[in-house]
Amino acid sequence: MAALPFVLLASALMAAPAATTANALGVNWGTMSTRRLPPKVVARLLTDNGFNKVKIFDADEATMEGLAGTNVETMVAVPNDLLAAVAGDYARAKEWVKANVTRYAFDGGVNIRFVAVGNEPFLRAYNGSFDKVTVPALRNIQRALDEAGHGAAVKATVPVNADVYDSPASNPVPSAGRFRDDVVDVMADIVRFLNKSGAPLTVNIYPFLSLYGNDDFPLDYAFFPDSGGGKTTAAKVAKPVVDGKVVYTNVFDANFDTLVSALKKIGFGHLPVMIGEVGWPTDGDKHATSALAERFYAGLLRRLVSRKGTPLRPNTRIEVYLFGLIDEDAKSVAPGNFERHWGLFTFDGRPKFPLGLHGVGRPAMPAPATSVEYLPRRWCVLNPDADVAGDDEEEDGRIADNVGYACARADCTALGYGCSCGGVLDARGNVSYAFNAYYQAQGQVESACDFQGLAVVVDDDASRGGCNFSVQVVGSGGTVAAVAVARTMAAVAGLAAMILLVVL
Ligand SMILES: *[C@@H]1O[C@H](CO)[C@@H](O)[C@H](O)[C@H]1NC(C)=O
Ligand SMILES: *[C@@H]1O[C@H](CO)[C@@H](O)[C@H](O)[C@H]1NC(C)=O
Ligand SMILES: *[C@@H]1O[C@H](CO)[C@@H](O)[C@H](O)[C@H]1NC(C)=O
Ligand SMILES: *[C@@H]1O[C@H](CO)[C@@H](O)[C@H](O)[C@H]1NC(C)=O
Ligand SMILES: *[C@@H]1O[C@H](CO)[C@@H](O)[C@H](O)[C@H]1NC(C)=O
Repeated sequence: MAALPFVLLASALMAAPAATTANALGVNWGTMSTRRLPPKVVARLLTDNGFNKVKIFDADEATMEGLAGTNVETMVAVPNDLLAAVAGDYARAKEWVKANVTRYAFDGGVNIRFVAVGNEPFLRAYNGSFDKVTVPALRNIQRALDEAGHGAAVKATVPVNADVYDSPASNPVPSAGRFRDDVVDVMADIVRFLNKSGAPLTVNIYPFLSLYGNDDFPLDYAFFPDSGGGKTTAAKVAKPVVDGKVVYTNVFDANFDTLVSALKKIGFGHLPVMIGEVGWPTDGDKHATSALAERFYAGLLRRLVSRKGTPLRPNTRIEVYLFGLIDEDAKSVAPGNFERHWGLFTFDGRPKFPLGLHGVGRPAMPAPATSVEYLPRRWCVLNPDADVAGDDEEEDGRIADNVGYACARADCTALGYGCSCGGVLDARGNVSYAFNAYYQAQGQVESACDFQGLAVVVDDDASRGGCNFSVQVVGSGGTVAAVAVARTMAAVAGLAAMILLVVL
């Protein structure tokens, strides 16, 4: 491994304190939060922990200003809702590149390496909405990059979800992998284009989701062998997948190789592939815990450092962006309550579990964010005079309405069954949790802790056991929140209804 020259080069170029990663390691920085840490604080969190690549979901100015001068290799993105415009009008693509790439291409600017064209545009849930626009958008963006002189350094790619390929039910092995019928033509166009432009295909692979909602899925198969105590062996995995001479003992390898087979089938078995998202959440589901996340990442990071590759691509270095950097409390919970808990770090930049980020030595707690400014240590809780589930039906109804209001606008996912606050709080605690979540998301403004007189502000930390009543950070409150709320309303209404049932 050429670790030493890299370290020397890295410290010379970046003057980053801990850039000792033997392996280039990326991470996704999402910003769907009710309150955002200052971008400079987050950028520092990246460099302090040796992340030298980052993927963002737009090209937000504040985020880009945070990254400026860090030399962290950055993937910016054209969101799905812009694909049609960029596909239909080359001038629009040029404008995009000018505003979001050229603008940062100066000494001390942002080290942009990739432009993600769309984000999982062929997800089954989108019903083909982006099938026709993705390829023309990809072409226009790369052409605009080339014409502006960025083409050699900056490549356009398309991050796809692993649901664009599978194996037939009759032969469910990786070597039988193929692209989904409805997207095989568009994937072939993309792959041909990427092969010509010299860019990798980007795929998001989530072993956690294989486990989620599938009680028959063998738990060990979600993890890499020899992680978590070195005891996961082929023999121990309940149902290893036997594919000719290869025995697959973990779903990541099986999934990746299914893609390799699908690529081979369309004539591009050697196209470079990078992992745009992979990770494990820590709350919001019974399998979303810090302990399992630690086990998953220990195996993943060890695998990446070993450069062992997968059975169909042995001895290859796989480029990876972990998902994600910090928790995002305004993400849509439509896929599940775990969606807001993907962070390696909490919303305020505290590490959740030890990680082997540097590729050598034992996993250690990552460095926390520095210079984080918090709002004052105060919490919003249910007024002690309020009567929960008492004789006063009208009051019960009012409490229920207010909890519903709070949870539709702030994050109550930790209250669910099997989550960090589920079973820890009593009925009063549940209501207080919801009130406090809203109060903090609103930046502790006085009017956010009223709830028709049902709430009071207190100085005593109401956290209990593993259930944290957080105090939010000073930071920009989000326009993001307003947008996200509209989308998450339906799913959150479900959760609020659960809480209400118990309160009533
Ligand atoms: C810059 O990128 C963002 C995110 O893709 C997009 O919303 C914005 O319209 C772009 N700016 C221009 C001028 O195209
Ligand atoms: C896709 O189709 C389903 C069922 O017809 C519908 O409920 C859903 O809203 C559609 N989604 C999109 C993004 O068009
Ligand atoms: C494109 O594919 C051909 C055939 O597989 C291969 O020889 C070539 O190296 C590929 N080009 C790139 C840039 O990957
Ligand atoms: C709650 O906060 C404490 C200290 O602030 C921290 O150690 C603990 O990990 C947190 N728990 C969760 C579930 O976030
Ligand atoms: C608190 O709310 C959660 C989520 O709705 C629920 O599962 C739990 O039973 C509630 N606890 C009490 C004691 O009301």
